[in-house]
Amino acid sequence: MASRVPICVNDFRVFAKERLPKVWFEYQDGGADGEQTVEDNVEAFQRLRLRPRVLRDVSNRDLSTTILGTPINCPIAVAPTAYHQMSHPEGEIATAKAAAGTCMILSSHGSNTHLRDVTAAVSPDSLLWIQLYLYKDRNVTRLMVKMAEKSGYRALVLTLDSPITGKKLKDSPCVYPSLLYRLPNIEAEKSKNVVRNIGFDMSATWSVIDWLDSITTLPIVVKGILTAEDTREALKHNVAGIIVSNHGGRQLDGVYATIDALPEVVEAARGSNVEIYVDGGVRKGTDVLKALALGARAVFIGRPILWGLAYDVSLIVSMSLCMGIHMRWKGASGVKQVLDILKEEFSLAMALTGCRTISDITSDLVISPSKL
Ligand SMILES: Cc1cc2nc3c(=O)[nH]c(=O)nc-3n(C[C@H](O)[C@H](O)[C@H](O)COP(=O)(O)O)c2cc1C
Repeated sequence: MASRVPICVNDFRVFAKERLPKVWFEYQDGGADGEQTVEDNVEAFQRLRLRPRVLRDVSNRDLSTTILGTPINCPIAVAPTAYHQMSHPEGEIATAKAAAGTCMILSSHGSNTHLRDVTAAVSPDSLLWIQLYLYKDRNVTRLMVKMAEKSGYRALVLTLDSPITGKKLKDSPCVYPSLLYRLPNIEAEKSKNVVRNIGFDMSATWSVIDWLDSITTLPIVVKGILTAEDTREALKHNVAGIIVSNHGGRQLDGVYATIDALPEVVEAARGSNVEIYVDGGVRKGTDVLKALALGARAVFIGRPILWGLAYDVSLIVSMSLCMGIHMRWKGASGVKQVLDILKEEFSLAMALTGCRTISDITSDLVISPSKL
């Protein structure tokens, strides 16, 4: 049982489990098949050990960095996840507000909020990237790209690990979230019925990156690469970044944990100026430090954001003589708390391993289990 005041990211999971309807919690929490990869993403971080340095004046730490040239206050950012309104009525807008100072990737297909409304609700210097799937109908992808460019998104994140949706044993068809929630980005162009049958393009090959590049001025980040072979393929195209990801273990069960895959991707990209990021299983500040030590420029987090969103959904009814009854959802401060806890833990991990700046976090700080 979590303490009543959450002190670590996993406490938010316990609260979300208590507060959300079981089927929704399981939709968010679960993964493909036997969920081996969901667990392994977390456990692989725990298998790695740290080799701290001492006496390095860590009295002031600078956690700031850049991604694709834009400054962020810390290398912890928000992965694209669907259906934020399942966790909180303010949905993606609350998440985007809480992510101020870092980067948020909005799921275009699965967002309950129109992508234009998300950028309109946050300050213009917020860093928002948009995640795309490839639809059979390329026009839908093209329209999404154009809307994203117009609305101020600063990069396109193309998810490559989902030519088809993985098999999740816990998802029940009768409560499948797309039947309950709006998906305004795709509904804008198509009728609901068509959208539900829209389908991803299973026939896509690497040339699709060139097609995407030809229709946009935005940098392209590819998400869902786990191998050196695919990294080398990606480098042949105009890709600015790679997110090492297995979709949080929701697509192909039994694949490599992402932190285990990271070194081969980093090695294959060495010498290029493509930035490498990682997501999957990041739950602690030391996980962030391990990922950076192994070559990631930043980490992205998925489920913990949704748990944070679900943390504070209590409805406040306040009465005042002049305003009558005023109802207000407490803001999604839970997301900010999740990000703040991770940031504090990361700062602590830097201090205790002798790092003052991000560039002090080097590969010799981590030792893999095979070397123990
Ligand atoms: C509920 C849920 C919905 C997701 N929806 C998307 C999505 O729409 N597009 C996408 O590229 N990835 C999606 N992902 C995968 C995340 O972007 C990310 O890869 C993963 O959650 C990272 O693992 P973590 O949850 O352990 O942090 C989703 C993940 C979850 C848990």
